Amino acid sequence: MKLNYNIVLIGFMGTGKSTISAYLSEQFGMEAIDMDQVISEREGMPISRIFEIHGEEYFRNAETNLLKELQTKKNVVISCGGGTPLREENVVEMKKNGKVVLLTAKPETIFNRVKDNHDRPLIENNKSVEFIEELMLKRKDKYIAAADVIIETDNKDKQQICHELIDALK
Ligand code: S3P
Repeated sequence: MKLNYNIVLIGFMGTGKSTISAYLSEQFGMEAIDMDQVISEREGMPISRIFEIHGEEYFRNAETNLLKELQTKKNVVISCGGGTPLREENVVEMKKNGKVVLLTAKPETIFNRVKDNHDRPLIENNKSVEFIEELMLKRKDKYIAAADVIIETDNKDKQQICHELIDALK
């Protein structure tokens, strides 16, 4: 089966954007584009180092530029960084590009998924369920406003999540 639209995955860190993107790419023969990965490769350093050397604003500009560049792509699934939909301009670009899917998870689930990773500068020094919950709350309205559909990921495997996602987009 082929989809006749692009999918743009958004959501907080650790909601499974990259995993789901890879799986959708496999299932539907779409090209998977991981924005963090592209930016990191182009800059020749991990995200944490980009934040350290150039600052967050620089990274955010790189996200906006990349989203615009991706406009021309067809048959792609794009996994955004957790902060990409916070800029209104980025949401406009995403919506031009495809259907926007918000993946969600409880703070406890997120904590368990991110606790052993050290390339998420915004939470690296504050890795706790409370901090994650607080940041998630601050972002919630923007995430919801950007989304065409919302999929909860707690206690679900990737097959189940993708099935729900495709169903919701029909
Ligand atoms: C960020 C999320 C990260 C990465 C950067 C900032 C955020 O992406 O883009 O560390 O602001 O939530 P993931 O959601 O893939 O971890």
